[in-house]
Amino acid sequence: MLKEVIATRYITPLREGGSLPGLVEADDFGTYVMKFTGAGQGRKTLVAEVVCGELARRLGFRVPRLVTVGLDPVLGLGEPEQQVQDLLRSSGGTNLGMDFLSGALGFDPLAFSVSPEEAGRIVWFDALVNNVDRSWRNPNLLMVRGELWLIDHGATMIWHHNWPGADTSASRSYDASDHALARFRPELARAAAELAPRVTEELLAEVTAEIPDAWLADEPGFDTPDDLRRAYARPLLARAAAVHERITGIEEGK
Ligand SMILES: Nc1ncnc2c1ncn2[C@@H]1O[C@H](COP(=O)(O)OP(=O)(O)OP(=O)(O)O)[C@@H](O)[C@H]1O
Ligand SMILES: [Mg+2]
Repeated sequence: MLKEVIATRYITPLREGGSLPGLVEADDFGTYVMKFTGAGQGRKTLVAEVVCGELARRLGFRVPRLVTVGLDPVLGLGEPEQQVQDLLRSSGGTNLGMDFLSGALGFDPLAFSVSPEEAGRIVWFDALVNNVDRSWRNPNLLMVRGELWLIDHGATMIWHHNWPGADTSASRSYDASDHALARFRPELARAAAELAPRVTEELLAEVTAEIPDAWLADEPGFDTPDDLRRAYARPLLARAAAVHERITGIEEGK
């Protein structure tokens, strides 16, 4: 289970983030990047962060540790900015936090180089979860002491916005032409051979078990949070086997 902490102080908004993530301090004295249930697409974005973040971690990628952050909306009362106050007020209860990587640099495809092997693994993973938010304009990759970390998996698994059409939507191809790592000749075949067999039903059950019940309740068409967990696992399991052949728009490494 994800560690649970309670927010004790709102430090500052992170200006680059479209969803207005904030930096908070918690009761374990940790500093976290916090994403709020009251923001934009709401809790589905947070579910996507947990499913993709925890899956990526288990496949060997570097992802900041995820925690749940309990929020008492009174924390927002003293905030001078209306936008921040509204966000905190509408996000009482369980939110998402991730370890703040201090000293991280935003990845710039023109300034850093990435091996074809690593590029292949990341592009393959993004194709698996249908990540549309790792473009060269907005890479959502951080560099820490020469190592790449994956962040921001909120815009993935488009099928979870329309469950009745999920199987059809999950069978579509993935256009990687704008991907931040497209220029590094990603070795997709090698990544697929290594990673696809590891995406098993057992692994996906472990990953989806990490989603807090509070974000799964009352989804139309599902009786229990566990039914919805299985619905998250299904398209990923189906996609893993064949997604390599469905990646388009990219010049593949050997
Ligand atoms: N764990 C972290 N450690 C350090 N900095 C972070 C971390 N997570 C996010 N950031 C910084 O905050 C910015 C916004 O975070 P993120 O991309 O997750 O938010 P978002 O609202 O989903 O953004 P987007 O505008 O891409 O949709 C990142 O670009 C990065 O600069
Ligand atoms: Mg981002």
